[in-house]
Amino acid sequence: CLFLLHCFNCFKLLCSVRLVKELESSEEEGNQDEHKLKNTMFLQYWNRSLDKLLGWRTAQAMRFGQPIVFDFSYASNMSRKEIENTVSQLMEVEGWNRRATEPFHLHFCNLQPDSHCKKELLKRYGAETWDRLLITSTEQHYIDVFPREQLVYLTADSPNILRSFDHSKVYIIGALVDKSIHSGLSLANAKRLKLATARLPLDEFLHWELGAKNLTLDQMIRIMLTIKDTGKWEEALQFVPKRKHDGFYQRQTQTECDWWFCGFHAIAGSSNRDSGRT
Ligand SMILES: C[S@@+](CC[C@H](N)C(=O)[O-])C[C@H]1O[C@@H](n2cnc3c(N)ncnc32)[C@H](O)[C@@H]1O
Repeated sequence: CLFLLHCFNCFKLLCSVRLVKELESSEEEGNQDEHKLKNTMFLQYWNRSLDKLLGWRTAQAMRFGQPIVFDFSYASNMSRKEIENTVSQLMEVEGWNRRATEPFHLHFCNLQPDSHCKKELLKRYGAETWDRLLITSTEQHYIDVFPREQLVYLTADSPNILRSFDHSKVYIIGALVDKSIHSGLSLANAKRLKLATARLPLDEFLHWELGAKNLTLDQMIRIMLTIKDTGKWEEALQFVPKRKHDGFYQRQTQTECDWWFCGFHAIAGSSNRDSGRT
């Protein structure tokens, strides 16, 4: 009898331990669901707040920010495929700019209403989103929007190097993707309009043997956003694809120069002493 009572108590104990475990695990699942729900709500809230912040910054850029122009006058130089690629790159441009700490005021100039580029932009964004984009798009020519002396056409074929970012200038980038590489197209355009031109200092900072120095539109905006913010080409040119060059030229830091200078004097001093010179 005592033995049976003992067995019964053991059974009760086992059952209660199992029950507690089941309750705990169901509670954990419930908690996980609750966590998931909280996380989703938090992420939704976070995304909405982030969107608002980015929207606010771009809106500020439209009022006070530095303009940058994308020149849409090359539609007739591009195939249908190239126009589609141009629009894909421009959508990236708009995205990178919107997410930047200090965005540019984007100007899409020479964008004709019935052009392939405009139709493709409308198709890809959808009319509603396109209308809500915080950019200025106009059929006007940039020379009718900005004072001529403020304009600088960026082109890889320019003889002039863009040494530093000038906040008083309006830089122009050709809205152009050319697989067949119509070299000198944007330079010719700028020359015809008698505009200042500049190329990025790629040769000055990067080991670059052969290969075209034409960068894509999304690379261009990332470089321009970074040079505007930091003034440092070493940072801005990180956005040039690594496959295109063999790395940055080594620059000696001030400390390295000081060490080199001290070492040189130490050796020179000892050899002077050895030879009895003063
Ligand atoms: C793909 S490139 C077009 C190249 C085209 N062959 C041309 O004549 O400009 C698109 C635009 O990006 C800008 N760009 C590309 N690489 C550049 C560089 N290394 N320096 C300055 N601007 C550059 C220019 O504004 C150019 O029109």
